[in-house]
Amino acid sequence: MMMLPAVGGRSPLFALSVSAGLVLVFIFGFMAWQSPPRMSFPHGSSHTDLSLANQKADVSISEVIRLLYQNMKTAPTEPFIREPNGSHIALPPNPRYKKTMGSDILILDLETRPLKSTDDFKKGNYDWRNINHVSGGIFNHYTYALVHGYDYKFVHAHEFEDRHATWIKPSALANHIKNYKFIVFLDADAAFRFLHVPIEWMLNYWDIKPHHSFVMAKDPWTAAEPQYNSDRFNRSLTNTGFMVVQNNENTMPILKAWHECPEDVRYANCSQWKQPKFHEQSAFGEYIRYDYEQYVKELDCGEANGYPGLEVNNCQGKFVRHYWFEKHLVKKDFHENIMNAITLPIQKIFAENIGGVIVQQEKNVIDA
Ligand SMILES: *[C@@H]1O[C@H](CO)[C@@H](O)[C@H](O)[C@H]1NC(C)=O
Ligand SMILES: *[C@@H]1O[C@H](CO)[C@@H](O)[C@H](O)[C@H]1NC(C)=O
Ligand SMILES: *[C@@H]1O[C@H](CO)[C@@H](O)[C@H](O)[C@H]1NC(C)=O
Repeated sequence: MMMLPAVGGRSPLFALSVSAGLVLVFIFGFMAWQSPPRMSFPHGSSHTDLSLANQKADVSISEVIRLLYQNMKTAPTEPFIREPNGSHIALPPNPRYKKTMGSDILILDLETRPLKSTDDFKKGNYDWRNINHVSGGIFNHYTYALVHGYDYKFVHAHEFEDRHATWIKPSALANHIKNYKFIVFLDADAAFRFLHVPIEWMLNYWDIKPHHSFVMAKDPWTAAEPQYNSDRFNRSLTNTGFMVVQNNENTMPILKAWHECPEDVRYANCSQWKQPKFHEQSAFGEYIRYDYEQYVKELDCGEANGYPGLEVNNCQGKFVRHYWFEKHLVKKDFHENIMNAITLPIQKIFAENIGGVIVQQEKNVIDA
């Protein structure tokens, strides 16, 4: 599906994004043959300086992306966004978040393994067509941070000895939330459907209030496998592949309760979820949410879970897609967004005959 943005008034700066598109094409070519620059993911609790990170990366991709999107970006209070098929998704009245929050928002990736594409890159073999879904998803998240000026971190966590790797989520969130108003966390197989729509717009759409510590989407329920995604009370688990965590007074207590759940102190028998599916997700659904019910905003599955083509419960990823099964498709969202951003200014050249590219041939005869 192609995404067609609602484009507002043309500004002189729009011409800049035209050149930015060409710059981007050049950069991709350039990066393919140059010797690999040192890429370092910043550590520590201070805000990431993306401009610094980009200086080290030789090319200012952040500037390119910023220019490319500056006229495409949706405002946090935009009355509606347009889907590729022409449908409108309207924002309810009285939006709470009126301004973008920039570096008060952290986009967070969390992995126990380094990116495989980094190995290829270091050997000079980087190719978009060959990278796996993990890099595809993470590049989507990083680009989203660049488009909207959010902070970004890729946390490389160590494996637990006694529990499944996904149990790293609560501690990583706890270690970074104190420096931000919101953390937006995504699994590598999840992606923003619309890179140009800021998270503030979605927070408005979902009516996220100051007391909400967590926003998550439910998993689907099917009669064929009624218990598969349900807790012991037949209630659908919330999926931890996409989480918005808000920094308020209940957030740390929830994260601590969650992280410590498998110790079986506060929650008897939570340790049964150390290894079996769905690990920390089951622990949250079975125990944690029942103690903090009003602080967890549960979205319907289709809002931020699943992807087009899935039949169950209409879980087709309206704003955030989560490719549980066909993970490679996570790359498709990214390239459709980027292609849209690059080709829009190219389309403008043909629509407005910029630089006189369009030449009329009045008579189909060979000029003498
Ligand atoms: C457009 O797609 C959305 C799902 O992405 C769907 O809900 C909506 O009904 C579609 N609209 C039209 C006009 O087909
Ligand atoms: C379990 O929950 C689903 C909705 O999530 C509902 O449709 C179904 O009827 C419930 N089953 C029982 C036995 O309560
Ligand atoms: C604890 O969990 C295990 C594994 O699911 C189960 O077999 C056992 O009955 C549970 N014990 C209690 C006391 O609930």
